Parts: sequence; structure tokens; C-alpha cells
Amino acid sequence: MALFIFLSFLFYAGVCSALKLTVPSHTIHGIEGQPLHLTVNYNFNTTASEVQIIWLFERPQTNSKYLLGSVNQTVVPDLEYQHKFTLIPPNASLMINPLHISDEGNYIVKVNVRGNRTIAASQKIQVAVDVPVTKPVVHTEPSSGVVEYVGNMTLKCTVGKGTRVVYQWMKNGKRLHAGPNYTFSSNNATLLILPVVKEDIGNYSCLVSNPVSAMESEIIAPTIYYGPYGLRVKSDKGLKVGAVFTVDIGEAILFDCSADSNPPNTYSWIQRADNTTHVIKYGPHLEVISEKVAQKTIDYICRAFNNVTGKRDETHFTVIVTSVGLEKLAQKGKSLSSLAVITGISLLLILVMAFLFLWKRYQPYKVLWMTLEYMNLLLFLILLVVLGYVILHHKLILSFFFIP
Ligand SMILES: *[C@@H]1O[C@H](CO)[C@@H](O)[C@H](O)[C@H]1NC(C)=O
Ligand SMILES: *[C@@H]1O[C@H](CO)[C@@H](O)[C@H](O)[C@H]1NC(C)=O
Ligand SMILES: *[C@@H]1O[C@H](CO)[C@@H](O)[C@H](O)[C@H]1NC(C)=O
Ligand SMILES: *[C@@H]1O[C@H](CO)[C@@H](O)[C@H](O)[C@H]1NC(C)=O
Ligand SMILES: *[C@@H]1O[C@H](CO)[C@@H](O)[C@H](O)[C@H]1NC(C)=O
Ligand SMILES: *[C@@H]1O[C@H](CO)[C@@H](O)[C@H](O)[C@H]1NC(C)=O
Ligand SMILES: *[C@@H]1O[C@H](CO)[C@@H](O)[C@H](O)[C@H]1NC(C)=O
Ligand SMILES: *[C@@H]1O[C@H](CO)[C@@H](O)[C@H](O)[C@H]1NC(C)=O
Ligand SMILES: *[C@@H]1O[C@H](CO)[C@@H](O)[C@H](O)[C@H]1NC(C)=O
Ligand SMILES: *[C@@H]1O[C@H](CO)[C@@H](O)[C@H](O)[C@H]1NC(C)=O
Repeated sequence: MALFIFLSFLFYAGVCSALKLTVPSHTIHGIEGQPLHLTVNYNFNTTASEVQIIWLFERPQTNSKYLLGSVNQTVVPDLEYQHKFTLIPPNASLMINPLHISDEGNYIVKVNVRGNRTIAASQKIQVAVDVPVTKPVVHTEPSSGVVEYVGNMTLKCTVGKGTRVVYQWMKNGKRLHAGPNYTFSSNNATLLILPVVKEDIGNYSCLVSNPVSAMESEIIAPTIYYGPYGLRVKSDKGLKVGAVFTVDIGEAILFDCSADSNPPNTYSWIQRADNTTHVIKYGPHLEVISEKVAQKTIDYICRAFNNVTGKRDETHFTVIVTSVGLEKLAQKGKSLSSLAVITGISLLLILVMAFLFLWKRYQPYKVLWMTLEYMNLLLFLILLVVLGYVILHHKLILSFFFIP
């Protein structure tokens, strides 16, 4: 320390001189076991009779140590350290090889130039020595998986080698920050998720770094059990209004029940009749063949059960079996138009009857061949034809009248 004060005095004495001593950086991070160059540049505008370079080392709470020095081209090493430090004058840069953790500290370089008078300059470089980090490994606890809202999960990041390690957690490639459900240990090496929710599913990794290196762990995707959520029943055909499916008689209809869960749900289909229910099938699909159902309206339940979370959900739906006509009617959704058809046919019938009546009344003598009986028969035939047409082509009209 005393030596440094002395050197500093010399430095200040030469402040007005033309000697410039510069270093690219006052802080340097070195890698353990590797060579380190402490680069120094200097220049001066006097003619020198002698150029002196001195390197000193100091650590907090210790005395400064002389490492080596040079006068012109001659290097004067400290015999204790001569294998480790190299100086090639007039280059004032110092090479340390190999660098060890114990070499961490401050390096002071001083250059003295003797011309008409002596001018001097010095610089200090802070050297930190780090061991590069190795690839970290992440362990989850419990490794078997966690049930949503029930358990907690701990992710532990361990790194084999490395000094001054900084831990950072990543989820799906983004930095994870502390929050109500995320707690980090004091050095951030451990992440506690409490409570665990479905949204915590993702790709986690641990990023470790220090000033000389950075490494990321393999991705880990913890197992989180959840559900069932969003239970719904779909069918391949049939008309669906709310929870009511309308099917034509004779048609087979396939129902599909699905809900989001981990592990996959087990599904059961339950038929309700009067006050009793009974399971008719297990599995996500149910086929209903409408010919085989006895009633016109059947109530079903699809139940999803997650055997790990112990939670279940169920949805009720109704199947109504109709004739083709009713379905068409429903598809058209316009009973008004069929009413119009019926009204039209009725009007037509009334017009035909009125016409025949008038014809009989005003031309009884001109049309001798047309007796009253014949006219009645004709009227009856016309009615039959119209009715036949209606039966064949407008089944829906009939169904409108006869099916409740
Ligand atoms: C050297 O440079 C300094 C300023 O940089 C100046 O004051 C001094 O006069 C110079 N000396 C010579 C001999 O040029
Ligand atoms: C050194 O001093 C001598 C006289 O003492 C002078 O002639 C010369 O110019 C000086 N050199 C420089 C570089 O200042
Ligand atoms: C240093 O080198 C200069 C020339 O560059 C020379 O004049 C001087 O005598 C040398 N000094 C020593 C101690 O070798
Ligand atoms: C001094 O040596 C260092 C390496 O030890 C090198 O990077 C630098 O360029 C040298 N400077 C000069 C002026 O030769
Ligand atoms: C996390 O769960 C374990 C059991 O799985 C329990 O022992 C521990 O106390 C829980 N930790 C917290 C912070 O709730
Ligand atoms: C945190 O936990 C609560 C339940 O306590 C949950 O509703 C919320 O979605 C969780 N937030 C995050 C970001 O996981
Ligand atoms: C832990 O991480 C947080 C950001 O998530 C950061 O602000 C904090 O400085 C870190 N602590 C340590 C000791 O690295
Ligand atoms: C997690 O990684 C896998 C592949 O490793 C990828 O398929 C999946 O989409 C990722 N998940 C997220 C949420 O990024
Ligand atoms: C839970 O259900 C899954 C299928 O969803 C099945 O593979 C597993 O054996 C069941 N576990 C138990 C304990 O019943
Ligand atoms: C259904 O059960 C209730 C009592 O739970 C009973 O009052 C009712 O009569 C039952 N209905 C039929 C159709 O069995």
C-alpha cells in the first residue's frame, strides 16, 4: 500500500507531462485456467533516455506486491512469479498465464519516462476470475406430477461448475418473474409454484450465467393433472337446438362426448327413464339407432370422470325421434308456408265446387248429357285426385295435422 501511495505521488507529479497511458477497460473478466492479457498503451512526446514499466498487484486488505518490471528492453521479474507473468517491452501489456482464482484483484501498471526530466503515469485494472458454468440440470418435485389446486411444485436448478452463477427461469422461452403463485429462493435457483393450475403447464428451463459464460438446461414439462373442463356433446347429424337433438326415425346418429382433462377422462353414457337412470355405454362415443328406441323422446347424460383429480362433470341432452316430414318442416322452420299451401288447396276446392254449382244452375238444358248424378261423381273424383296429390307430395301437411 505504501508503495502505491508513493507511486501515486509520482503519477500526480507528472500530470502536466506529455505521457499518456491508457487501458481499454478498467474491469476485466478472466476465465480460470486460461491466459489473460492486460492490454496497455502509452505514448510520450519527449526524447527518452530510459523507459521504465512496473506491474504491481494488490488485493483488498493486503499489501501491494511487485510482479515484474522493465527498464528499456530488460525485464526484471520477481523470481517468485516469473513463470506466470510475461512482459515484452516496450509493449507494457501484461500476460498472465495460466489465470487462477487467486489472481483476482487489482493490477497497477506504472510507466516512467526519463528525458530532460522524469515523467510518469499509472493505471489500475480490476481483474475478476470466473469458472465457466456447466450445463444445468432441472429436477421437479414431485416428479410424478401434481394435481391442480391440490399440490405444489418445486423446480430445482443445479449446476456442476461455475462461479458467481446467476439463475433465471424460463417458461416457453420467456423469462419468468415472481408473482402470487411463483416464489423464488434467495439465489433464484429454486422455483416454487403454489398453487399449481392448468395454466402452469409449459416448457420450463433454467438459464445459468456468469460474466464469462451462459448455459441453458434441457426443457422440462412438468405433469399437471386437471379437468374435466368444457364438457360437450356433438353429433354427426340431426338437428341440434340447445341440448335437444332432433333425429329422423330410422336414422342412426353418433354422439361424441369430449372434455379437456389430464389424464384423459373416462366417459359413461347414462339413459334416464322416468326416475331411474342406468349406464348404457362406456367410452367417448354413443350410437343411437332411432328405430330401436321405444320412446319418441329420450334423455341422456354424458358423464366425464378424471380418475386422478377425482373430479367429474356431466351434461344432459335429449333426443327426439321424428318422421322425415317433421324434420323437413322443422328445417324449413316456416309453418306459415305450409299453412299457405293448405289454404291454397282449400280455396281451389271451394272454387271448383262453386264453379260446378253455377254451371249446373245456369246451363241445365244446354248440357243435357251431364246429369246431376254425373256432376256429383265428377266432384268426388276431383276431390280424390287432389287428396292423393296432397298425400304423395305434401306429407308434411299431413304430419302437421296428425302428429302432435
Ligand atoms: C508534449 O505535449 C504536451 C501536451 O500534450 C505539451 O504541453 C508539451 O509542450 C509537449 N512537449 C513537446 C516537447 O512537444
Ligand atoms: C532537453 O534540455 C535541453 C537543454 O537542457 C534542450 O536543449 C532540449 O531541447 C530539451 N529536450 C526536450 C525534448 O525538451
Ligand atoms: C535506454 O534506451 C535509450 C535509447 O532508446 C538509451 O539512450 C539508454 O541509454 C537506454 N538506457 C538503459 C538503462 O539501457
Ligand atoms: C502489446 O501486446 C498485446 C498482447 O500482449 C497486443 O495485443 C498489443 O497489440 C501490443 N501492443 C503493441 C503496441 O504492440
Ligand atoms: C408442498 O407440498 C408438500 C407435499 O407434497 C408439502 O410437504 C409442503 O409443505 C408443501 N409446501 C408448501 C409451501 O405448501
Ligand atoms: C394463481 O393461482 C390462482 C388460484 O389461487 C389462479 O386462479 C391463478 O390463475 C394463478 N395465476 C397464475 C398466473 O398461474
Ligand atoms: C432473482 O430474479 C429476479 C428476477 O426474476 C431478480 O430481480 C433478482 O435480482 C434475482 N436474484 C438473484 C439473487 O439473482
Ligand atoms: C413445448 O415443447 C414442445 C416440443 O419440445 C412443443 O411441441 C410444444 O408446443 C411446446 N409447448 C409450448 C407451450 O411452447
Ligand atoms: C385412470 O384412467 C386411465 C385412462 O383414462 C387409465 O389408463 C388408468 O389406469 C386409470 N387409473 C386408475 C387408478 O384407475
Ligand atoms: C319419481 O320420484 C319421486 C320421488 O323421488 C316420486 O314422487 C315420483 O312419483 C316418481 N315418478 C315416477 C314417474 O316414478
